[in-house]
Amino acid sequence: MVSLSISTLSALVLALVVKDTAAHIVLWHDAMFGWDQYNINQNDAVTPLADMTFDEWWFHGYKDKKPAEGKFIELPVGGVFKGEVACNKAQTTWNPEITDESQLDEFACHDVGPMHTTDAKGSENPTNVKGCGLAIAYTSDENTVKPSDFTVFSVDHACPWKRRVDFPVPADLPACPEGGCLCSWGWVHSPESGSEQMYHTVYRCKVTGATETRALPAPLTANKCDYPSDTANCTVGGKQPHYWLQKEGNNNFQDYYDPPYYNEKYGFMQGAQTDLFAGIAPSRPTVVAESSVVPTSTVATVVSSSEVPSAQPTLVVESSTTDVASSASTSASVVLSTSSTSSSSIANSSSGAAPTSVVSSSSSAQASTSASSSSAPATTTKSTGKTCKRTLHNNVVRQARRHTRAARVAATVESVRQRDVLLDRQRLLAEGLAIMARSKLV
Ligand SMILES: *[C@@H]1O[C@H](CO)[C@@H](O)[C@H](O)[C@H]1NC(C)=O
Ligand SMILES: *[C@@H]1O[C@H](CO)[C@@H](O)[C@H](O)[C@H]1NC(C)=O
Repeated sequence: MVSLSISTLSALVLALVVKDTAAHIVLWHDAMFGWDQYNINQNDAVTPLADMTFDEWWFHGYKDKKPAEGKFIELPVGGVFKGEVACNKAQTTWNPEITDESQLDEFACHDVGPMHTTDAKGSENPTNVKGCGLAIAYTSDENTVKPSDFTVFSVDHACPWKRRVDFPVPADLPACPEGGCLCSWGWVHSPESGSEQMYHTVYRCKVTGATETRALPAPLTANKCDYPSDTANCTVGGKQPHYWLQKEGNNNFQDYYDPPYYNEKYGFMQGAQTDLFAGIAPSRPTVVAESSVVPTSTVATVVSSSEVPSAQPTLVVESSTTDVASSASTSASVVLSTSSTSSSSIANSSSGAAPTSVVSSSSSAQASTSASSSSAPATTTKSTGKTCKRTLHNNVVRQARRHTRAARVAATVESVRQRDVLLDRQRLLAEGLAIMARSKLV
């Protein structure tokens, strides 16, 4: 008893001290890895994740802090799991002192700040809230489960906002193995309110009333698209959660100011994901297919534009592949140089292998743009002053760095698919740089 009150007291003191810096949001449940049954005021699990090593962010660092025996989130097929998201455990019905739910805030947090949205508190129709999602992996073994084992099965586009969040469960979710499943909660917020980060916590869970006997197909990474109005780029079938902005283990390499969401923008329909079996024979996007057939010989695409004045920086994007078929090793780099050259150039890659593409903006007037640049997202904007230019330039440099880091990650995990996606991203980045150069923004 004495030790309990001391730990509760110290936790309270700690909570008061860290309140402002750690005030964000998590899905509270006693089946969570990291759940502290002695700390009513627990808020460490709400800490956002950014620029962390794999062990730091995976399971929110709580892999060895198992939930108590027998604790599970229950997922009734065709029904609803009623979750609670909040800044602090004490602000949920998990607070044993709460006898009537009307004692609690209707919203996830008392203040709007930790919710990372530009919406005003109390708004019935928030427009800047980007959604959160629940995913499932069909194993109870926290030591062998991998990030790519998780399939997002339910999403709420208006989360986190209200404290209560309903997660409808797909009717075709199969039963879990003996010992249950592992579930994860994820959230990535709008870039307009606070620094960029992701949220990821893991729980023990169980599917109840299952009738589906097929195993879920392996989930793919969620592509940026525009469900349901333009699904061309959407991933077909079950999708993995977003793993973003970390030092290691990312499956999404979006730029800092272009976060991936659990909403239509990444093909996640509202509520239960009813397309989990739709991707059994997924067709790859053409761009990925293109990069996967690039042999080890040199393939260079030169994009130049007559609109670029002679003093413009040369943008060189290069990548090299030593063995496409076996994914033995991959290296890629993005070079952003400011020297002015008289014609398009092919830069040596660090490994000495063949570059797959080089994009350069030079002063030489040549036959307009290539087909690849014309398919780039047409977001050419007019120059809006020095600050804007500097911001854009900084973004590009940051993205280039992130990209180089991502390439290294792809090489270490020896993933062909990640490498392909990466090459695709590089191509798009190159196109973006070319567009910016053409519109004189860099
Ligand atoms: C397609 O998805 C990829 C991966 O998320 C993304 O990088 C790319 O920008 C998307 N393309 C379009 C046109 O949205
Ligand atoms: C590429 O690197 C090799 C070896 O370092 C060097 O001999 C060659 O001149 C370089 N080529 C270019 C185009 O820079």
